[in-house]
Amino acid sequence: MHYHLGMSSILWLHGFPLSSQIFEKQRAIAGATHVMPDLPGFGNAPPAHGEPSIEQYARFAVRHLDALGIEKATFAGLSMGGYICFAAARLFPDRVAGLILLDTRETADSEDARKQRFESIEKVQREGIAPVVNSMLPKMLTQSAPQELKDWVRGVMMSSSEEGVIAALRAMANRSDSTAFLPTISVPTLIVVGEEDPITTPADAERMANAIPHARLVKIAGAAHLSNVEQHAAVNAAVERFLG
Ligand code: MLT
Repeated sequence: MHYHLGMSSILWLHGFPLSSQIFEKQRAIAGATHVMPDLPGFGNAPPAHGEPSIEQYARFAVRHLDALGIEKATFAGLSMGGYICFAAARLFPDRVAGLILLDTRETADSEDARKQRFESIEKVQREGIAPVVNSMLPKMLTQSAPQELKDWVRGVMMSSSEEGVIAALRAMANRSDSTAFLPTISVPTLIVVGEEDPITTPADAERMANAIPHARLVKIAGAAHLSNVEQHAAVNAAVERFLG
């Protein structure tokens, strides 16, 4: 089947602990319909039931497309959203027309990272989400980002529910490694990374770009983890070139 990427739908999947609000500047991207759900427990979405997993979010994403009558979309995921993109591409290959992987990685958590996730869960249970938000905020934007933007991102993060944050930490800790999956990806793929992203680094992005056949890599100057927020014009231009 010949699938034309132009004028397609893009399903935007946000990172942790954020909401669809982080993609508001991406609505300006021409040539596509934008679908931007809040993941369960984040933004305005109620928490999900059952054992949390990245696959559960992928099923949620596909059900969201079902409800809108969209058969195929380009799946765009930032960080945790990227983990969900890999799961969706694995579980629902017929629904994924393309991939836009923003500030994410294919590898699973190290033992140490998993341990930290479970420590964070205990912290959220004791103290709420503010300590987790405060420790992540400095990695989201570069130091020189306007204070207003930092405050705005903090507000988006603080809109997450405790249940949602705990579920996502558990899901990320238990996620599978997608390394072996990368060479099997056959849809057009764009990889975007902030040059100063300390969470999912340019080295992570280069490794994915080398492993995914025909992937295009764009590094964004003056951006940390939320490249699409801090440098939205550059990210939007990269997406428009990819769609074109
Ligand atoms: C995210 O932005 O989604 C998270 O930082 C990802 C992670 O903690 O692995």
